[in-house]
This record gives sequence, C-alpha cells and structure tokens, in this order.
Amino acid sequence: MKRDLITLLDYSSVEVLSLIDSADKLKKQKDKLRTDLKGKSVALVFQKPSNRTRVSFEVGIHQLGGHCLYLGPDEINLGKRESTHDVAKTLSRYVQCIVARVFDNKDIVELARHADVPVINALCDLYHPCQALADIQTIREQFGKFKGLTLAYVGDGNNVFHSLMVACVKVGINVRFAGPQGYDPNPVIVKRAQEVAKANQCVIEPGRDSKEAVKGAHVIYSDVWVSMGQEKETAKRIKDFEGYQINGDLVKLAHKDYIFMHCLPAHRDLEVTADVIDGKHSVIFDQAENRLHVQKSVLLYLLKGRS
Ligand code: CP
Ligand code: NVA
Repeated sequence: MKRDLITLLDYSSVEVLSLIDSADKLKKQKDKLRTDLKGKSVALVFQKPSNRTRVSFEVGIHQLGGHCLYLGPDEINLGKRESTHDVAKTLSRYVQCIVARVFDNKDIVELARHADVPVINALCDLYHPCQALADIQTIREQFGKFKGLTLAYVGDGNNVFHSLMVACVKVGINVRFAGPQGYDPNPVIVKRAQEVAKANQCVIEPGRDSKEAVKGAHVIYSDVWVSMGQEKETAKRIKDFEGYQINGDLVKLAHKDYIFMHCLPAHRDLEVTADVIDGKHSVIFDQAENRLHVQKSVLLYLLKGRS
C-alpha cells in the first residue's frame, strides 16, 4: 500500500512527531550525501510559481542520491492537455514519487487516487503540509517544546493557515486566529482540527481581533493577503485586510520572547512591516531552511521500503 501526503489530517500525532524528529536528524547531518534515493526519480509537477518548495525539493532529492524532473505549467497542463488520471498513470511508469503544486485540492486528490506511487502536496488551495511541518520544526528549535505554547495567526484563513492549524494541534500547540469577515478558515477543516485539539489537550480560538489573538502569544504568524491565483482580487483584499497588519505596536502585546513567522514570499508594509519581519524576533529564514530538511524527511518516509 502506498502512502501520500495530501493533508496532515491523514497523519497521526506520532507520525507528525517522527517526521520532525527525522528532519532534525537530517539537519544535523546536512553535509552528508546519502544514497537512499539512488536510482529513483521524482517528478515535480508545478502549476504555480515557487522558490522555496521547488528548490528545497530539488536540492533535497539530490542530497538523498535521487534524480528529479521539474515539470512546469507549460509541460504538464493537468486536466487540460490530458486528464489527471492519464498524467498519474503515465508518470507512475517513469518515476517513484510525484510532488505536485496545484490550484484545486480536487486535482491533487485525484492525482493521488490514480497514481501508483506516493504523491506529495506541494500546495493546493486548501493545504500546504510541507510548509507546516517545517514551521513546527522551527517552533520546537526555538522553544524546545510544543506543549504550553500559543500561536497567533493574523490574516487570511487560507491553505497555509489550514495546514499550520492542523500541524499545531497534532503536537499540542494552542492556535488563535484573527481575520476579517469573509476570510475565515474552511469550517470543515476547523471542525476536524478541533477534534484533534481536544484529543491533544489544546485549543483553537477563532476571532476577529488581532490584539486579542496576539496577547501573550509565543508565535505570531502571517501570510500574504493575496494568494497565488487570487491576483484579480488584490485591491479588494488589501482593503478588507486593513487592520490585520502585523506591526511594531501589535507585537508589543506578544510574549516577550515571541517569534515572528511567515512562510514567504512576503509583502513588507502590507501583511507585516519591515521592522517586524526583519527584526530580531523573526525566524523566517530558519523556516525556509527547514523546508529542505522536512522535504527529505517526508521523501524518506514515503519511499521507505518501496522498490
Ligand atoms: N513558502 C513557499 O511555499 O514558498 P514558495 O511558494 O516559494 O515555494
Ligand atoms: N497562501 C500563499 C502561500 C504561498 C507559499 C499562496 O497560496 O499563494
């Protein structure tokens, strides 16, 4: 039976912790070239642009001794040039794993359903699980623990927030959300995450007030107000998210040792001011680096024991 990584909702807390433990180990041995993926090929099917995700997967696959092929929107036009079913079946005859960045979650689910090899979600409209794993790895590096911490996310209840919320409650981090009306996270995902939170003795607190959310928080997180594919809504979104900027005044309310996180790319002076994102509490490039260690950890986990 093959395993995919579409959403961390499909992974147990034990699995999430072991992926992070393994990423920590890989980080400690980062200069060691490995041979785990020798003779194996991985297809990166990207329907949207990327810096961190593409580069960390390409470099990670190389460091594990494997080979990868980047297939941008002009090569594999999922569902348009040919059906997702045919893409999944064809690629499964060539490669041992598919990493895909798509617009619609349904596309990655369908790709995984028809592929005979593991499929990894490199971002869709609902989830960004590899980012969330790197985020919780970064949080543990900074605080040495998960339990008792509170993360405040201010902004859009989007793909990054959904995966971050799930990853946090899987390991016992409390989550607060503050965003404007009309940009709440998906209620079905929140409900499922609430069940996980209950089992792990932590809470998810949705709200509208960024000050309330940030008060005493150990981690403050923001993402762009306009995600890839939403460019036509830019003017409306910038107006709607007014009041949800993370700035010097807001972070004064946080825990004195708070960290600032952002998945990047970021827009200074929209969702976050330069003094915060470039200040001493910011760990954005640790997060970016940890994408590499997490991608390797996920690849090793999904490809283990597969020929
Ligand atoms: N955070 C992230 O996924 O960045 P890219 O879009 O550059 O891959
Ligand atoms: N929410 C953003 C994340 C980019 C990594 C987007 O989907 O564009």
